[in-house]
Amino acid sequence: MSSLIDFLLVFTHLAGAIVWLGGMVFAHFALRPAATQVLEPPQRLPLMAQALGRFFRMVAVAVVALVASGVWLLLQVGMGQAPMGWHLMLAIGLLMAVIFSFIYGGLYRALCRAVDARQWPAAAAVLNRIRVLVLVNMTLGFLAVAAAVSARA
Ligand code: HEM
Repeated sequence: MSSLIDFLLVFTHLAGAIVWLGGMVFAHFALRPAATQVLEPPQRLPLMAQALGRFFRMVAVAVVALVASGVWLLLQVGMGQAPMGWHLMLAIGLLMAVIFSFIYGGLYRALCRAVDARQWPAAAAVLNRIRVLVLVNMTLGFLAVAAAVSARA
């Protein structure tokens, strides 16, 4: 029974990390440059707002699943016995979650308001701030994976 729970916890943890990190890589390196090349602001900015809205809803679920499963796995071993890599992963993961909350709760709403008002320069400026913070979170995400791998015996 406990090995089934462990399986589900690790599966949930990795699925959450894959959805979050993979989605950021796709949005940053594929969707955004393609949209910039092909579409003018009145088409591009509503598309980005729509696409990011769908992605961020999934990420909100992934973050809860990732943090909850990670903390559960960590506490099974105990903070005192946990390798340094797990402590680093906890710190990085919590920082990523705070940054995501700011993106979704603050910047994304501002993006939607600017797009609804058809204020394209304002929308582009907010989207650029989102891009920078997604890049920061993507970098942190890869550091978290490195921290996880470093903890292997
Ligand atoms: C609150 C934050 C987090 C905590 C407490 C946490 C905790 C853990 C723990 C305890 C494990 C070991 C599971 C086991 O093998 O029994 C683990 C594995 C892993 N975590 Fe995290 N984690 C967190 C966030 C993240 C984030 C943000 C990422 C990447 C985006 C990540 C990626 C991974 C990966 C790839 C593994 C598998 C490592 C391996 O099997 O060698 N974790 N995590």
